Amino acid sequence: MGDSKASRKITVGILTSGGDCPGMNAAYRAVARVSMAKGYSVVAFRWGYKGLVESDALSVSYLDVADILQRGGTVLGSARCEEFTTEEGICSAMDSLKSWEIDYLVVIGGDGSLKGALRLARRGAKIIGIPKTIDNDVPELDNAIGFDSAVNTIVDSLTKLRDTASSHHRAFIIETMGRKSGWLALASGVAGGADVILIPEVPVDYPVLAQEVERRLRAWGAYVLIVVAEGAAKGDDVRTVLESLLKKPVDMRVTVLGHVQRGGSPSAFDRILASRLGYEAVNLIERGEYGVYIGLANNAIRSFPLERLEGEEREIDMELYEISKLLK
Ligand code: F6P
Repeated sequence: MGDSKASRKITVGILTSGGDCPGMNAAYRAVARVSMAKGYSVVAFRWGYKGLVESDALSVSYLDVADILQRGGTVLGSARCEEFTTEEGICSAMDSLKSWEIDYLVVIGGDGSLKGALRLARRGAKIIGIPKTIDNDVPELDNAIGFDSAVNTIVDSLTKLRDTASSHHRAFIIETMGRKSGWLALASGVAGGADVILIPEVPVDYPVLAQEVERRLRAWGAYVLIVVAEGAAKGDDVRTVLESLLKKPVDMRVTVLGHVQRGGSPSAFDRILASRLGYEAVNLIERGEYGVYIGLANNAIRSFPLERLEGEEREIDMELYEISKLLK
């Protein structure tokens, strides 16, 4: 019995979970290709934890992961799965790992999805997490997969909105994603030269904001770009409050970037990061290590115990925020 187990090929399971973002396919491809190069079998679950709970999976071939490096979204699909939060759902997920003979499961997901993976790890599943999220709120990491691409998308939008704002002497309020974290608004605001950046981590001081808008619009041809993270305030609410505070009417427009930020082809940075992380996940498997998530921390690929996700949340870079105030 021991011998047949030892001679059996290692099977690596993969799933993508949580909100999609650019670079998930690049990570899937990297895990699959490096696994195949090492002679392992690869099984992918469709629709995230839903596929795991329902045992909906495919045996992955080389061609299944061809031509996906450059594609946004996730070809494996992602879905919310209430069942996975129940005892019954977790048991079904464990059964499905067993029936597909999965030795290691690589979960490509955000903070919430990786916490879900921890529940499986506590039942004995051998898990490796590859973090992706445009919110960039994974503890310990510099950049999660998808963040750089989303920042580039927002910066591109800011460049376009600057053209129209300057042509019409207007104030633009641009709402970005980021429910709990201001990373996306801060990084894209700095890179896109926003005049004001509003983030959930710093309460909005509306009277000061109104004065700032008035001061900026005084000059001929002036305009204002205000970037606001959805977690700080809704763009429409910022506009309503400003309208009530401004001494003279100001021509204001609100642009909600919405899910556009989650789509598109991954940046070169995200493709490289996803490839490195896929490679590292398989290296860990080769060494028999698991129960961790991996990522770029202080510019090196490192691993952290999944339990770390239950600890303190990732804080925003307040130094960058302070710098942004001096640049405006
Ligand atoms: O967590 C990533 C994120 O993109 C958030 O920034 C955003 O608030 C949320 O997902 C949107 O989720 P949904 O696609 O379910 O509307």
